[in-house]
Amino acid sequence: MRTGPRRTRVDIRQQRKLDHIRQALSLEDGPIPNGFKDVRLIHEALPNLDSRDIDISVSFLGKTLTMPLLINAITGGTPQVTDINRRLARIAAKAGIGIAVGSQAAALRDPAMRESYQVVREENPDGIVIANVNPNTPVDQAIKAIEMIQADALQVHLNVAQEMAMAEGDRDFRHWPENLAELIRHCPVPVIAKEVGNGVSFETAERLMELGVRYIDVGGAGGTNFIAIEMRRRGLELQEFEAWGISSAVTLAEVAWSASDCLRSDEKLTIIASGGIRNGWEAAKSFALGAKVAAVAGSVLKHLLSSSDGEQSVVKYIEEFRQELIVSFTLTNSSNLDTFAQQPCLILGEVKEWLEQRGIP
Ligand code: FNR
Repeated sequence: MRTGPRRTRVDIRQQRKLDHIRQALSLEDGPIPNGFKDVRLIHEALPNLDSRDIDISVSFLGKTLTMPLLINAITGGTPQVTDINRRLARIAAKAGIGIAVGSQAAALRDPAMRESYQVVREENPDGIVIANVNPNTPVDQAIKAIEMIQADALQVHLNVAQEMAMAEGDRDFRHWPENLAELIRHCPVPVIAKEVGNGVSFETAERLMELGVRYIDVGGAGGTNFIAIEMRRRGLELQEFEAWGISSAVTLAEVAWSASDCLRSDEKLTIIASGGIRNGWEAAKSFALGAKVAAVAGSVLKHLLSSSDGEQSVVKYIEEFRQELIVSFTLTNSSNLDTFAQQPCLILGEVKEWLEQRGIP
C-alpha cells in the first residue's frame, strides 16, 4: 500500500534540478585533474606596456564582453531556482560577462516554468544570454527556447555520460547527430555544441564540424562531475566511472588541432573553454591553447550559495578573475587577447604524454 502522495514526473524532474545543485555544492572537482598544471606560459621579464591599458574585452556573438568569461548553464525549470538565475544574471549584467541558462526542457513542456529562465533576460537586457536544450529537441521547440529569452546563441548539451549514469536517463542516442545538424540549419542564432564535463576528442570535433558546428564548448573533465552527481543521487560511488573523460587542457588541445586540420582557411571554429576552470590563470592558459572565451559553472554556484553574502562573493570572485587575467597578460607582454593568443606555451607531464600518444603536435 502506498503511503503519502504520489510523485508525478514533473515533481521528479523538479527534484532532479534541486538534487543537481545540492550534489554540485557538496562534491569536490575531479577526480581527473583539469590538466592546466601541465600547461605553462613563458614569463616576460622585460615588458613594454602599461598594465592599466591592457584590453581584455572580446567580441563574441555580435556583442562585446568586458572580459572573455561566461557563467555557464546551471539551472531553471522550477520556481525554487528562479532566484539563483535572477542573481546570476544581475551579476553577469554588471560585470559585462555572458550567461547561459540551464536546460529549458521544463519550460518547453510547461509554460508556467518559463519565468525561471526569463528572469535571466530581464536582469540582463543587453548582454549575452544563451539558451540551452538537449540534442533531441525538435527545431520548433529549440526556436521557442531561443525566443523565450531572446537568446544570442543556443547551447545543445551533449551529456551522454550523464544520461548513462542516471537511472532514468536516455539510452538511445541515434538521432543526436542528425538533429544537431537540423538545429544548425534552422535556428536563427549560432548553435554551440556543449559537453558538460567529459570533453570532446578531435575525432568528435571533426564530426561536429562536418555536421556544421562552428562553436564548441569543450566541457572537459576536471571540474563539476556529472557522473559523480548522478551516482550520489542513486546512493552509489563508482570510482572507475567517475574518472571517465578527457581533461579540459587535453580536450582544448585536441579540438584546436582538429579545427586547423578540418576547416577551410576562410572558416573558423570558435572554442569555449570549460570544465573545472576556477581562476583567471587557468582561463589564460585556455586562451593560449586556442579558446576564445572561458566558461564557469560550479565555482560560481558555490560562491553564490555557500556564503551568507553570496552575490557579493560571486562579484569578488569575478573581479579576482579579471585581475588574474590582467596580470597574466602583463607577464607575457600581451596588450590584448589577440596578442595573448600568440603566446607560446609549454605542455608537460600527463597532458604531453596524452597528446603525444594521440599524435597531436
Ligand atoms: C550544470 N551544467 C549544465 N549544463 C547544461 O548544458 N545544461 C544544464 O542544464 C546544466 N545543469 C547544471 C547544473 C548544475 C548544478 C551545474 C553545476 C552544472 C553543466 C555546466 O554548464 C558545465 O558544463 C559543467 O558544470 C562544467 O563546468 P564547471 O562546473 O566545472 O565550471
